[in-house]
Amino acid sequence: MGRYRLHVNGRRETVDVPGDTPLLWALREELGLTGPRYGCGIGACGACTSLIGRQAERPCVRTVADSTRERITTIEGLSADGDHPVQRAWLELDVAQCGYCQPGQIMTVVALLAANPDPTDAEIDEALRDNVCRCGTYQRIRAAVRRAAELAR
Ligand code: FES
Ligand code: FES
Repeated sequence: MGRYRLHVNGRRETVDVPGDTPLLWALREELGLTGPRYGCGIGACGACTSLIGRQAERPCVRTVADSTRERITTIEGLSADGDHPVQRAWLELDVAQCGYCQPGQIMTVVALLAANPDPTDAEIDEALRDNVCRCGTYQRIRAAVRRAAELAR
């Protein structure tokens, strides 16, 4: 066990866990941030996607010990009242079905639009290629990315 300081959603947090604990576990179990979902645990489904710095990354495959220098943003920290342009677009187009994958989809899109405010359909597909949605909401996700880009302009 060890005490690790994490910077999550603008707050300094301390977690008491072994250093090789997956960051996703610390977020969900120690800090109560259940927006990042557990899907596969091997970086393959995108359900846990959160921002590490400005990059969309998968906290299921990085350790707590390797995360102490980073600014971590989960979907809970994206906006105070759900009014981030990507969240507004998601609501407007009623994207979610069961919703399980959606925090990961949204955080991937936040990183995409931060780097590329006007992505092409091919760029949207590439960015979201490894975010799995078992409900098949892909068409609505693409439309919502385009709408979020408009809202952010
Ligand atoms: S749970 Fe992290 S990528 Fe699947
Ligand atoms: S909305 Fe159900 S898995 Fe994506």
